[in-house]
Amino acid sequence: MSTKQIISNTKDYVMNTYGRYPIAMIKGKGSWVWDSEGKKYLDFVTGIAVNNLGHCHPSVTKAIREQSKQLMQPCNLFHIEKQGEFAKMLSENSFADKVFFCNSGTEANEGAIKLARKWGADNGGKYKILHARDSFHGRTMGSLSATSKSYQAGFKPLVPGFKSITYGKIESLEKALQDNKVCAVMLEPIQGENGVVMPPEGYLKKVRALCTKNKVLLILDEVQVGMGRTGKLFAYEHYGIKPDIMTLSKALGGGIPCGAFLTTNKIAKHLGPGMHGTTLGGNPLAMSSAIAVLKTIEDEGLLDGASDLGEYFLEELQILHSKHKKEIKEIRGKGLILGIEFKNNEIAKKVVEKSMEKGLLTILTKGKVMRILPPLNVKKKEIDLAVKIIDKALEEVSGA
Ligand SMILES: Cc1ncc(COP(=O)(O)O)c(C=O)c1O
Repeated sequence: MSTKQIISNTKDYVMNTYGRYPIAMIKGKGSWVWDSEGKKYLDFVTGIAVNNLGHCHPSVTKAIREQSKQLMQPCNLFHIEKQGEFAKMLSENSFADKVFFCNSGTEANEGAIKLARKWGADNGGKYKILHARDSFHGRTMGSLSATSKSYQAGFKPLVPGFKSITYGKIESLEKALQDNKVCAVMLEPIQGENGVVMPPEGYLKKVRALCTKNKVLLILDEVQVGMGRTGKLFAYEHYGIKPDIMTLSKALGGGIPCGAFLTTNKIAKHLGPGMHGTTLGGNPLAMSSAIAVLKTIEDEGLLDGASDLGEYFLEELQILHSKHKKEIKEIRGKGLILGIEFKNNEIAKKVVEKSMEKGLLTILTKGKVMRILPPLNVKKKEIDLAVKIIDKALEEVSGA
């Protein structure tokens, strides 16, 4: 189908909820994607932190192929072999004992909110949830109520019982915790949509201590930064803390919709049969793909790889910063979630678009941040190429 026809079908028949580039991707392999005109791009969007193994990794396509021939959806009225197997793997590799599987990030957060509310109801009737003012937890009503105001306009009334705090300011949390109706604090360990915002030194440790002291649950949303993105399987591992509940999605299913919330036995017991559920969550197809992803991360040593490559990438971007001080405000990130904050929105938009023209895909976030999310198995020479393209784009934007 021609690009024109693809775009016109989208315009005519798909709801207009995304600001799309006039490009249609039709093929992917490793760090690369091809559009319907045959143009090749270095893909540092990775489906927005989904394709952590790159496109169409053979271990994932093999798992999906084999499972699709055997059984795709028996439903959760029966035991599902691969669901237990994958839950065991996640629990052996995290703080958690138990897992609930769903289909997306927002749904994982809805489940975490319900679990926290039920725990709170069973612990003296606590129900309020604190969240960061600039956070992103998803588009459904519960998650949206815990998300930045900029996404909420027009959808009120929201779910009651949510209160915002300032991310990174421990006094803001301290003050909010004076309310004894708070049952949970929900945070992203690193804020992705908000422009790759890092927690200040020691912040998450203090958050953990305050939650414990006030008998409040800590929910960490690792939908974007989990599954190896930061160089550890889960971002919380960098900060010497453990959450009470963690949510995952995006890279979890290797491209097949898959989400999860994880917790300890002590907290999990507050949800019993009939209290939460989903038809397709934890189906064998998603589980087979997810198992292949986690096994590959382990077998190919991708956590150390992401850590080393992330450090290298960050250093290269720092060099770029020193060359383009007039345009770049700051470089930040951990592992392979990186952000270049430009001095203003106009420069950022131009650099992202010029990079795309030159064959590098990145995401414009929060108006002035270029968010860079390469696959965990990206090659050093691909990083070098990306830096070269951004450098060239910056030169053109600044008219140098
Ligand atoms: C931290 C975080 N939480 C939740 C979500 C929502 O995930 P989904 O789009 O799968 O509903 C996102 C999506 O970008 C996210 O970055």
